[in-house]
Amino acid sequence: MRTCYSGLVSAAHLDQVVTLFGWAHRRRDHGGVIFIDLRDREGLVQVVCDPDRAETFKVAEGVRNEFCLKVVGKVRRRPEGTTNAGLISGEIEVLAHELEVLNPSVTPPFLLDDENLSETVRLTNRVIDLRRPAMQKNMLLRYKTARAFRRFLDDAGFIDIETPMLTKSTPEGARDYLVPSRVHDGQFFALPQSPQLFKQLLMVAGYDRYYQITKCFRDEDLRADRQPEFTQVDIETSFLTETEITGIMENLIRYVFKDAIDVELANPFPRISYQEAMTRYGSDKPDLRVTLELVDVADAMKDVAFKVFAGAANDPASRVTALRIPGGASLSRGEIDGYTEFVKIYGAKGLAYIKVNDVTQLNEAGLQSPIVKNLSEASLRTVMERTGAQSGDLIFFGADKAKIVSDALGALRTKIGHEKGHVDGRRWAPAWVVDFPMFDYDEEDKRWVACHHPFTSPKDEHLEFLETDPGKCLAKAYDLALNGWELGGGSVRIHRADVQEKVFKALGIGDEEAQLKFGFLLDALKYGAPPHGGLAFGLDRIVTMMTGAESIRDVIAFPKTQRAQCLLTQAPSPVDEKQLRELHIRLRNQVKADA
Ligand code: AMO
Ligand code: AMP
Repeated sequence: MRTCYSGLVSAAHLDQVVTLFGWAHRRRDHGGVIFIDLRDREGLVQVVCDPDRAETFKVAEGVRNEFCLKVVGKVRRRPEGTTNAGLISGEIEVLAHELEVLNPSVTPPFLLDDENLSETVRLTNRVIDLRRPAMQKNMLLRYKTARAFRRFLDDAGFIDIETPMLTKSTPEGARDYLVPSRVHDGQFFALPQSPQLFKQLLMVAGYDRYYQITKCFRDEDLRADRQPEFTQVDIETSFLTETEITGIMENLIRYVFKDAIDVELANPFPRISYQEAMTRYGSDKPDLRVTLELVDVADAMKDVAFKVFAGAANDPASRVTALRIPGGASLSRGEIDGYTEFVKIYGAKGLAYIKVNDVTQLNEAGLQSPIVKNLSEASLRTVMERTGAQSGDLIFFGADKAKIVSDALGALRTKIGHEKGHVDGRRWAPAWVVDFPMFDYDEEDKRWVACHHPFTSPKDEHLEFLETDPGKCLAKAYDLALNGWELGGGSVRIHRADVQEKVFKALGIGDEEAQLKFGFLLDALKYGAPPHGGLAFGLDRIVTMMTGAESIRDVIAFPKTQRAQCLLTQAPSPVDEKQLRELHIRLRNQVKADA
């Protein structure tokens, strides 16, 4: 049996004989002596094979990278000057008495130390990739984080209840992954986008503190912070108010960060309204470490000659917004062009700017800009006063539909903030974003859609707006933002069938459709449903933030690519005709081919 993990052998084991199992990370032949770095999931230890033990030495000569080995040997101090402070085992080495090859390895597709591997190579050879120390660290941290969530929730009386994977569509706003039924010709299960409806049903059933660490499935466009299947820490409680729920959740997150990575987060987390977040940061998940802020100036631009500004200033659905960059007058033409290209990603048509060379001269003598000649002195004064501009600054402008301006300048704020050092030095800046609107207006479909999901409760004082002015109706919904990422979100739910029906009506979901899709929920709400609410955290995102990895794929053992494929197993893949027939499925392209 193993004495301990290779990576954990330390000076505490000096002079002991240890038995270790692991993989040959590297083998170095120093003429007379062979060194093998033996690796397991906890790290590395240096094994020394010297020619005095002829049999062991002979085996060592045949060892190659990634051979699986058993080593029995004596722990001794490394010679002076050869210690490695970066390893737990850095002060010692193991003089091999016995060395056994448990299984040789073919030559691995890449060196585990290679820092410049393409993601395609890594994901195709994920087993070898997972052997790399960086991935071992990520996997261990993911486990520790999930364990911390469980510990806190178990201790706080939450119980873990599983909910189905083969179920009906849950409206979280993405496309469903469908699973055809063999038994019921032409019918489909949907994989859950979240356990939302089931956790609400559990509240009605009386299991008043529930949690589950579970997979969710969403067929949506993928980005660095999204996967088609991902893990939520899903939570629901009964009888608590919005602030009581966010209070517990905040304690939970503080506990998890302390336990997993020894970080003390702020107490309490600041709370900002959705409206304020959009106005000042252009984002509902603002990076509060960045000190730059957006400032609206539409009221001063209504009559200016620059049509782009005047047009937006006179449209209630638009914004004219300034972003001051202290010291930004030194930005080069090339940098400004780069930022102009950057905001186009978000739909912006341009990026007007003013270089403030001399703030006392509000004309072309003091301000360098393509647009100053078309702005009035009064409008320029308002801009300077409101942004607090000083000589040497630069001011960027966005003028367009509110969403475009918020997205574009919000992203620019974060980008320039980090690139140019306009940050406050905090490593972690959590915040609750609260008072979300109930509905967003979908210009294309000309209808209201739920901002969070259709089971979110309106604020009590806004119930009347459901019928009169849905745009004004705020929700009892909250998101937790950290450093510009949305870590989790939730809401107090509707627990009365009559309110739920009104919300469906505002969303244009008719009685019949509501009954067909969510009849089981509406019926349950009639049996004394308790007031309830909850939230779900994205486990993958939280661990990604903790590790500082660039993509959530680095904290998932077997992730999908941006094109929603698994390069390791080659899924998705075609299936044979017999399977399709059993499922009553005929492929469209097949139909064409047959025709
Ligand atoms: P929501 O849709 O906001 O809420 O999801 C909750 C959290 O899950 C994470 N997340 C994702 N992580 C990785 N890849 C994805 N594709 C992905 N989508 C979401 C995010 C997000 O904050 N049922 C509600 C919760 C509730 O109301 O209780 C829900 O699912 O971190
Ligand atoms: P133009 O009048 O189109 O030459 O634009 C003058 C300046 O305004 C340029 O710097 C453009 O990048 C900028 N600009 C154009 N459209 C917008 C817009 N919608 N919002 C902000 N700046 C814009």
